[in-house]
Amino acid sequence: MSTQSSVNRMEKIVSLCKRRGFIFQSSEIYGGLNGFWDYGPLGAELKRNVKELWWKSMTRLRDDIVGLEATIIMHPNIWKASGHVDTFSDPMSTCRACKKLVRSDQVWEMLETIPWAEAIRATAPEGNLDSEALLKWAKGKGSRLVPNLALIKDPEGFLARVTQRASELDPAGHTLLQLLCTADANGPLCMPCPHCGGELTEPRPFNLMFKTYVGPAATEEDIAYLRPETAQAIFAQFKNVVDSSRVKVPFGICQIGKAFRNEVTPRNFTFRSREFEQMELEFFIKPDEVVQAQTGSIATLDGGPVPTEPQPNWGWEIWHKYWVEERFRWYESIGLKRSSLEEYWQKPEELAHYARATVDILYKFPFGTQELEGIAARSNFDLTQHQTHSGKSMEYFDQEANQRYVPHVIEPSAGVDRLILALLSEAYEEEEVTDEKGNKEVRTVLRFHPRVAPIKAGIFPLLKNKPELVNKALEVRDLLRPLMNVFYDDGGAIGRRYRRQDEAGTPFCLTIDFDTIGENGPEKEGTVTLRHRDSMTQERVRIADLPALLMAQIS
Ligand code: GAP
Repeated sequence: MSTQSSVNRMEKIVSLCKRRGFIFQSSEIYGGLNGFWDYGPLGAELKRNVKELWWKSMTRLRDDIVGLEATIIMHPNIWKASGHVDTFSDPMSTCRACKKLVRSDQVWEMLETIPWAEAIRATAPEGNLDSEALLKWAKGKGSRLVPNLALIKDPEGFLARVTQRASELDPAGHTLLQLLCTADANGPLCMPCPHCGGELTEPRPFNLMFKTYVGPAATEEDIAYLRPETAQAIFAQFKNVVDSSRVKVPFGICQIGKAFRNEVTPRNFTFRSREFEQMELEFFIKPDEVVQAQTGSIATLDGGPVPTEPQPNWGWEIWHKYWVEERFRWYESIGLKRSSLEEYWQKPEELAHYARATVDILYKFPFGTQELEGIAARSNFDLTQHQTHSGKSMEYFDQEANQRYVPHVIEPSAGVDRLILALLSEAYEEEEVTDEKGNKEVRTVLRFHPRVAPIKAGIFPLLKNKPELVNKALEVRDLLRPLMNVFYDDGGAIGRRYRRQDEAGTPFCLTIDFDTIGENGPEKEGTVTLRHRDSMTQERVRIADLPALLMAQIS
């Protein structure tokens, strides 16, 4: 459950994102568009760094993964084959009073953070109703906050009904909220609308794919979809990649790109958006029978750790665990602490019908612990479906095993935007510091790992009206900017310039002062002050050493 301090923290992060140009509401000048977000100058750099690090870790640093960049709109039969046309839907309810749409499976979660629901729950701690407190609330504050709650229209009548059914009240307050919103006293209980307290209709499925038309005729036959995931393009191009590259199973194809879902209730800032980006890997492996026949037995772990070097006798279970570990290692390498992440194994009843196992990597966001990435063992479901629907063989000829088969797949699928939000949440900190004059102030700092930080170094001439200082600072900027993103700033006191870079998450600041230009003797000439964001410590560094020193931190 979100606490007031976590709500405040989230509000501060959202406000910093706008103030410093990380994330803006899309189309803001026209009132915004719900579920769509733009990345400003700092956000665009942060996102680019994250995507490049993922791409590098998948393709450049490995021999067994290649990349793909497919179109967003593809043949509609792809989505028929994948099951998205028939089953990619969320349960949706409409409020009978305010007409707003709500995702039925998220109502209770939403109501956890809504003050009016909290106020009602507070009148029945642990399920023991304080009728007087509830009546007072219904006639006072409640009548202004949630006028559509059935309780508000007939406080005494509803209170009598609740008192009658007091034995049914649960400690979480669900039955109480249902009783108070349901207009028909004799009918089944309804769920309350989080927006106004009205009755929600029964859930019905709502397909999440955005539809469009290809070509000018715009008939039913021309319907196409904006892809709801990048994965299916990888399956659809599997044969072309195998035929055109020298890949051998086990191998992977990865892709980064936009995905679109017409989410019923986009929320929690960018966490659930309608347009977002995914980084997906489909890692193709031999079916277990083939491994068994080839190597004599399938490896088992017996509770031990997963080796970091893949082995020929791995079946799907070890490959799956290997990818879970790899993904944790990657998140740690870009600055998410292991203690901020959780590993969640989906229960058998939660698994998609084709999945053998799915592990979600969860991040402890300020609004709750939620999914960052899913790692699914999808058997050979997708390739088999495309084989059936397209009539084209998806079999792979394995020369080592001398046999044909449809490969199985392990799919680590991550959301870029959720990761950006996790990185911002992890990095955001406020701390009390004392300035040179002994005054206390709050320093807002984003403690990004240098690898992902949008700006790697701030470059400051001590004074902007001293041409020697300015020219030297510009020289340092020109030395570093082919290697990394740097920011030249000559405005205001050095302390203020440091604070601005702290808020942007810049790990290093370089000040060019009178020592640098040799005014205080030759021994410090050609050196700058390097200030570290996190410790705020400073050291003298030779300009000539800067490229190697900084590159070691950011690459
Ligand atoms: N191909 C598998 C797949 O798409 P998913 O769990 O639906 O699986 C994978 O999505 C990841 O994409 C999620 O873990 C999440 O990070 C991201 N994602 C999904 N829906 C999203 C949304 N509406 N807004 C932002 N990110 C989303």
